[in-house]
Amino acid sequence: MPLVNMKDMLAHAYAEGYAVGGFDLVGLEFLDGIMQAAERERSPVILSLAESHFDYYDFELAMAASVAAAERAGVPVAIHLDHGASLESAVRAINLGCNGVMVDASHRPYAGNVAATREVTHMAHACGVPVEGELGYVAGVEGEDAERHPGEVVYTAPDEAARFVAETGVDFLAVSVGTVHGRLRGEPRLDFERLAAINAAVGRPLVIHGGTGLSDEQFRRLIANGVSKINYYTALADAAAARIRANDREGAGYTALLAGVREAVAEETARCMRVFGSSGRAEAVLAAAAPWRPVEHVILYNVEGVGEAEVGDMMAEGRRVLSRIPGVRRVVTGTAVKADARYRFCWLVEFVHPAVIDSYREHPDHKAFADNRFRPVAGDRVSIDYQAGPGPDGAGSGRSDV
Ligand code: 13P
Repeated sequence: MPLVNMKDMLAHAYAEGYAVGGFDLVGLEFLDGIMQAAERERSPVILSLAESHFDYYDFELAMAASVAAAERAGVPVAIHLDHGASLESAVRAINLGCNGVMVDASHRPYAGNVAATREVTHMAHACGVPVEGELGYVAGVEGEDAERHPGEVVYTAPDEAARFVAETGVDFLAVSVGTVHGRLRGEPRLDFERLAAINAAVGRPLVIHGGTGLSDEQFRRLIANGVSKINYYTALADAAAARIRANDREGAGYTALLAGVREAVAEETARCMRVFGSSGRAEAVLAAAAPWRPVEHVILYNVEGVGEAEVGDMMAEGRRVLSRIPGVRRVVTGTAVKADARYRFCWLVEFVHPAVIDSYREHPDHKAFADNRFRPVAGDRVSIDYQAGPGPDGAGSGRSDV
């Protein structure tokens, strides 16, 4: 199960002097193409889902597909929320399976950016999930001509960057040193001196947004100055669109138009992996990064003083309330199949990370539900938190399908 801890993944890249691509996907063709490239290149990869793209696809379905793709992969994968707009977005992304989140409050004045980012960091760290924040402003819109969205690029100031990291606790910092989102005419001028000063002041993985249109040499200099994650989208979208245009002949149907799109995305992704230096690093990252495995919180119980209809109501409320707590992947309630079972009912609550065992227990919604609805009627119960894993002999992954 090569979903790995993204903090470990980027720590490896930062220490070894290469960068991992955060490739934004907008559909199954992209997901498939990106994963094919990662397997072919034996490269770690970040599947990136940008909130600004949620009009183009169903985030929940795309997350299910991304998690499935990561679980069957032979290379290390992280799944990241790109440009998250709010605390609620970050909670939703984590509960759907993202193991890294970006909060983008870079358009706000410094104090507002710190406050919004700190809120997300506090929540995400209690779920074991690392956070990317952005300081300075990278203008433009992914997938469009950058010239049409001139905006005001705000460069990141090195001393403010160090203060921002200390005040927010972000694990990775997205910086503005002259890149823009979207399609470019000509080469942007990047401020490498500024980047070197930020790297010296911050000392942790830096992130570049707006990867499209940079030269190989620019990528190399960015990476040499602490950039460990590069966000990349527009060039993938352009490669996909060019393939569709080339397929557009009289009478061409949907599948004929899409023929070769996955390969086009894979080719451009693989090219980036070679330039970023992540090709051939999969085995080293798998050895260095902790696997990302959920925790199953299981409770078996009997009730006293209430009928089965009331138990059904309680279970429904629990599924609704508990599944919204940060770090909860799903809540399953059940009833024993056999009448003589030692315990008649069960809860199965899946946490994204062991850190959630404590943050869930202390969460006010959990406390209220447990104290008022559950514990008063379920005195006879056992509970256990366990993690799917290889078992005491260390052999295998703990799953039958890998
Ligand atoms: P490009 O679309 O310019 O590659 O930028 C992607 C990006 O930064 C996504 O966050």
